Amino acid sequence: MTLHDAIARPNLRLSPSGLASSSDVIEVMAPAGSGSAEAGSGSSGEVRVFRLDQPIVITIDGPAGTGKSTVAHRLARRLGLDILDTGSMYRTAAAIAIDNTIDLEHHKRLLEIVRAAHMTFNWKAQPPEIMAFGKSYARRIREPDVTAVVSQYAGIRELRDLMVGMQREIAKDHPRIVSEGRDQGSVVFPQAQVKIYLDASADVRARRRCEQLKREQNVETDVNKLRTEIEARDANDKARPFGALTCPKDATVVDTSELDLDQVIDKLYDIVREKARV
Ligand code: DC
Repeated sequence: MTLHDAIARPNLRLSPSGLASSSDVIEVMAPAGSGSAEAGSGSSGEVRVFRLDQPIVITIDGPAGTGKSTVAHRLARRLGLDILDTGSMYRTAAAIAIDNTIDLEHHKRLLEIVRAAHMTFNWKAQPPEIMAFGKSYARRIREPDVTAVVSQYAGIRELRDLMVGMQREIAKDHPRIVSEGRDQGSVVFPQAQVKIYLDASADVRARRRCEQLKREQNVETDVNKLRTEIEARDANDKARPFGALTCPKDATVVDTSELDLDQVIDKLYDIVREKARV
């Protein structure tokens, strides 16, 4: 099976054990002539990348506005891996807190209700859909009231501990995964085979956000105001005592300021191919 086939079958499911059945033990090969010859062996000009029965964790961290989420989804799809959007878990916790009027300082109550919500993902949906209390929170978590407060809830240590534990459990069931967030390479999966830190200048991120608001909501925004907000949020994220945004020492930093989406995906794909080669 070539990589093209893997892309065409992005939902290739693994057995319940999380490992591919023997019939799924397939090598994913870089397409011939894709410029991969420098990377290694293969008499046909193809290079063995990794096998579909082999666990692999790829972490993608970085500040907001670097295109992390889109990039993570696209990369996971291209490689036939599952995707874990950890931001949606913090957003769901914040939505639950808002909807049940639990204030920021009531950590114990928050933890109780978040545990009782049995947060999970519906892996049959594409992308996987975050669920709590047996229903979808996919829409709710994108609403402005959640976005406005989620970073404050994400700063609660007990909540982070719970989420980190849940994320590690998810990876046990989905051992071939791209996990995206702020602390995935630094805290949650320090042993990840591939760690990416996506970055972009505050100017570029502000401009992208401005264009997105115009495109999606027809809202005109002052780019300077957005940049100031982004800089403040970065400072906040990096200064947080728990789960602070940091670039793991062994991460590859990819600055997306001058790259379009396809170029970022190609770059990440090359990094994975190089690092995850077996
Ligand atoms: O990526 P996002 O905007 O959906 O993230 C929502 C919030 O959760 C944001 O304030 C960052 C925070 N977050 C975090 O602290 N740790 C993660 N692993 C993921 C997100």
